Amino acid sequence: MIEELLEPGTVAVETFGDEPGALADLFPEEALLVEGAQAGRRGEFATVRRCAHEALGKLGAEPAPILRDPKGAPRWPAGFVGAMTHCEGYRAAVVAPADRAAAIGIDAEPNRPLRSAGVAELVTVEAERAWLPSLAARRPDVQWERLVFSAKESVYKVWYPLTGRWLDFEDAEITVDPAWSTFRARLLVPGPVVGGVRLDTFHGSWLVRDGLIVTAITIPAPTPALAAPGPSAGRWAGDDPTVGGA
Ligand SMILES: CC(C)(COP(=O)(O)OP(=O)(O)OC[C@H]1O[C@@H](n2cnc3c(N)ncnc32)[C@H](O)[C@@H]1OP(=O)(O)O)[C@@H](O)C(=O)NCCC(=O)NCCS
Repeated sequence: MIEELLEPGTVAVETFGDEPGALADLFPEEALLVEGAQAGRRGEFATVRRCAHEALGKLGAEPAPILRDPKGAPRWPAGFVGAMTHCEGYRAAVVAPADRAAAIGIDAEPNRPLRSAGVAELVTVEAERAWLPSLAARRPDVQWERLVFSAKESVYKVWYPLTGRWLDFEDAEITVDPAWSTFRARLLVPGPVVGGVRLDTFHGSWLVRDGLIVTAITIPAPTPALAAPGPSAGRWAGDDPTVGGA
C-alpha cells in the first residue's frame, strides 16, 4: 500500500509481519548490529532489511550490508537514498536512485491514540492543536494526533540525512489536507539546502488503512529533468487545512 504515497522511480517493499528466515539472511555485519538485542527487535530489523535488500535489488544495486550511522540512520549504498519503518504488524523499506530523490522519509504507526495527552502535547505545536479538534470531529476514524506524529517522524527521516542534525517536534508545523491525503511540514528553523535552494516546507502524503497510519515524504533530486513531481505532489484542496471533502 505504501507505493500509493511514493513518487515515480521509487521502489517499495512491505510486509505485514516478521518473516521466518530473515535473520539468517542478514549480512554478518548487519547481524552484529542487533547481536544481543531482544528477539522482537532482531525480527523487525532483519525483516525490514530483507525488504530493503529486495527493493535495492529491483533497482540493480549490488547486494551489500545496510549498516547505520552513529545516530541510527541507515547507510544506503552509494547512488541510492531510502528509508525504513516498522511498527506492530508492518515493516516497509523504500529506495530510489539518488538522481531521482534527494531524500525519502516514511513512517508507519498504529491508528491508535498516542499514549497520553502529555505525549500529544510534546509532539504537537499550538498551530496544530488549533485544527486537530475539527478534523477529529469530522473524521473520528483517524487518530489525527498520531498522524501528526507519524508525519513528523517522516520529516525527521528526510531532515537528518540532508543535515546530519537533530530536529525537535516543535521545529516543524504540520497541516493536513484530508481531501487529497497530503500534508505539509513547515520548518520553523532554517531548512536544508538542496540543489542550491533552501527548503522551508516538505510535502508529504498519508493513508489510513487496516489499522495503520502511513506517511511518506520525497524530496526530489535537484536535477530539473528528473525531478518532475509525481501524481500526488503538492496536491491541496484549499488554503484551510481542515477544509476539503474529508
Ligand atoms: C529515528 C526515529 C525517527 C525513528 O522513528 P520510529 O517511529 O521510532 O521508528 P520506525 O520503525 O518508524 O523507524 C526506525 C528506522 O528509522 C531509521 N532511522 C533511525 N534513525 C534515523 C535517522 N537519524 N535518520 C533517518 N532514519 C533513521 C532506521 O532505519 C530505523 O530502523 P532500523 O534501526 O531497524 O534500521 C525516531 O525514533 C526518533 O528519534 N524521533 C525523534 C526525532 C523526531 O522525530 N523529530 C521530529 C521532527 S519534526
